Amino acid sequence: MTPTAYSFLGLTAIVAGLVGVLVFAMLRFAAAARDTRRQLSPAGGGDTAILTAALHEAVAKLKAQERATAARAEASERLSGEIIASLTAGLLVVGLDGDVRILNRAGRRMLGLAESTPLGDYRQVLGEPTLIQVIDECLARRQAIVRREVGLPQARHDTSHLGVTVSPLFDERGELHGAICLFSDLTAVKSLEQQLRLKDSLATVGELTAGIAHEFRNGLATIHGYSKLFDLNAIPEAYRPYVEGIRAEAESLGQVVTNFLNFARPAELTLSRVDLRAICERAADEVRADVRALGGDVELRGDFGAVDGDEVLLRQAFSNLLRNAVEACAAASKPPRVVIQSGIDRVQNMSRIAVEDSGPGIPASARERVFRPFFTTKRSGTGLGLALVQKIVVFHNGRIIAGSSPLGGASLQITLPLAS
Ligand SMILES: Nc1ncnc2c1ncn2[C@@H]1O[C@H](COP(=O)(O)OP(=O)(O)OP(=O)(O)O)[C@@H](O)[C@H]1O
Ligand SMILES: [Mg+2]
Repeated sequence: MTPTAYSFLGLTAIVAGLVGVLVFAMLRFAAAARDTRRQLSPAGGGDTAILTAALHEAVAKLKAQERATAARAEASERLSGEIIASLTAGLLVVGLDGDVRILNRAGRRMLGLAESTPLGDYRQVLGEPTLIQVIDECLARRQAIVRREVGLPQARHDTSHLGVTVSPLFDERGELHGAICLFSDLTAVKSLEQQLRLKDSLATVGELTAGIAHEFRNGLATIHGYSKLFDLNAIPEAYRPYVEGIRAEAESLGQVVTNFLNFARPAELTLSRVDLRAICERAADEVRADVRALGGDVELRGDFGAVDGDEVLLRQAFSNLLRNAVEACAAASKPPRVVIQSGIDRVQNMSRIAVEDSGPGIPASARERVFRPFFTTKRSGTGLGLALVQKIVVFHNGRIIAGSSPLGGASLQITLPLAS
């Protein structure tokens, strides 16, 4: 071997050694790096997981809170809806733009609006000038109006009087944004007041005048009696009509006084359970022959209840009504069609009976006056028939009103409390 070869071999051995050292160092470095990564990696992953879990938990809590809040809001909305719906008073909320925001079931009933009637501007929805005026006044004055009485036209619905309280609605900044209106049905209270007033005035009239009327009747009987003593054949012919006139006038005045005494006499009811159908049948039987003779008919329709009442007086009341119906048709030369239409109001525990006819009807302007004593449009009428009917009805704690009938004529509508 040449020295060159020896030195080349030595150099190769040195380079190989260096490469070996380098490879060893690199392997150690890689192993150390792997260890470090292995040591580092579990610690870093743990922090991230904790953070993620905390975040998830917070989001879940927030969601649960949101769900609970929504459920609470829904429950409170449902509760206020139930409260509004079950209020026996009417509730109406209007915005400044005039839109009805709320009108509960009781309110619709009192205003005669069906459940399906769409809401819009309160002036259109209510259609009652007096009621609209109260709300307008509250909004204009920005002040509450407490317990104002408002009358409603009878024809539209059963409610004729409302007690109304309207308050302005302000937001948290004190800005007016509408009005809230609470109303209650005063019809029953009003009718009770009216009944009591009528009973009072009838009792006073009775006390004051019954005595005088009695004296009057005695005097008339005497005049009539003396006039009967005249022998018409024994007096000059020229005087006969005068005597006949005295007799006829005394007779008709006597009838007026008798009717008036009937009306004015303090009402003493002999109470028993009275079947209204039977009463009406008998009253109808009394006029049937006359009605048929005039080419008409009288019939009973619907459900009739029973009342605790005076049978004789109630029959007299229905007889008077039927007589009036027949007379009205006859005077107008119309064949009388008379229907006694009855229904039972279970809610108010009332019997509602209407005597309807096909006559000329009662003009709206006279519908209250017809019940006044001595109001008559007939030549031979005393004008006490309906006054007596009203008295009988009122003393049975009922009500009577005059209206128009689908048959074209009058409708006299009676409401009586049903027997307990
Ligand atoms: N069914 C009816 N249709 C039209 N008008 C009626 C009817 N019933 C009553 N009236 C009107 O009411 C008035 C008063 O009636 P009411 O019965 O009190 O007295 P009258 O019938 O005139 O007299 P009386 O009953 O003493 O004979 C009548 O004169 C009539 O004008
Ligand atoms: Mg009459």
